[in-house]
Amino acid sequence: MTRSKILSTRPLFPAAREILERHFEVEYWTQARSISRRELLNRVADKDALICLLTEKVDEALLEAAPKLRIVATVSVGHDNIDEAACTQRKVVAVHTPGVLDDTTADFAWTLLMAVARRLLEGDAWMRSGTWPGWDLDQLLGGDVWGKTLGVIGFGRIGRGVARRAQGFQMRVLYNDAVRAPVEVEKELRAEFVDQDLLFRESDFISLHVPLLPGTRHLISRENIRKMKPTAFLINTSRGPVVDEAALAEALEKKIIAGAALDVYEHEPKVHPALVARKDVILSPHIASASVDTRTKMAVMAVENVVAFFEGRRPPNALNADALGLK
Ligand code: GLV
Repeated sequence: MTRSKILSTRPLFPAAREILERHFEVEYWTQARSISRRELLNRVADKDALICLLTEKVDEALLEAAPKLRIVATVSVGHDNIDEAACTQRKVVAVHTPGVLDDTTADFAWTLLMAVARRLLEGDAWMRSGTWPGWDLDQLLGGDVWGKTLGVIGFGRIGRGVARRAQGFQMRVLYNDAVRAPVEVEKELRAEFVDQDLLFRESDFISLHVPLLPGTRHLISRENIRKMKPTAFLINTSRGPVVDEAALAEALEKKIIAGAALDVYEHEPKVHPALVARKDVILSPHIASASVDTRTKMAVMAVENVVAFFEGRRPPNALNADALGLK
């Protein structure tokens, strides 16, 4: 029997490769630089499945270039890189990797929150510069975390994980989401559902956990930032375009808010130059889910979905399973 042909735009991890190679004929993109659009379109042309990253667009043009394609799996929970409607129209199953990265990402949102509040990177740079004169009373004074108010926008699995961690810091937790969480969840996480306006006005830390949708693009707008406290910090581990970076840079410059910590950017891999220059901003390179265990789980999950599909089972993490009537 001929084996289905797979293109994987990364070599993945041994645990995922081992499963993949048991079932399929696999071509990997192994170069250090990411695959270019042109190379992607060339190599996917004769493939039955594609395993890709969030930096690769699966759109009409790609589907057109890959007439045999039956399933595409993005090794990410966010799937704004995939045109789901176009996939459904061409009967291509689209898969992502939810669930396995929630706690790792929530941990990292907290890493950023603590680091920006307590000015960790400024302190690190000072120590390395060899110019620290020794302890003094008013050096690098930051904001307290414990006992403050955390505002979580987007109360899915990751947002809830961030809220859960706030209990250890005796924080008040406010949240906003298009859908209110069940009462038991609110009770367990001691989280209060509020409208966005109140969340912006009362939070000392705002952490973003929404998917990128037309309605969430530039949710952090000039107008909304103006509602925040001058002592507040913004944390973004969701998607870059949720924040209007120019508006954020301007707000920091005018001291409308105290600081920001970003893991994702409006135009990755670029960062707004005005943000790069600022000490009250922490920038990390989209690594919120980047633990060894979690990235391995994500790759294995993507692969297992592809295997399920070719074995005639419903891929457990298909975005358009219902639209395609998969049993
Ligand atoms: C990372 O950003 C992801 O969506 O998994």
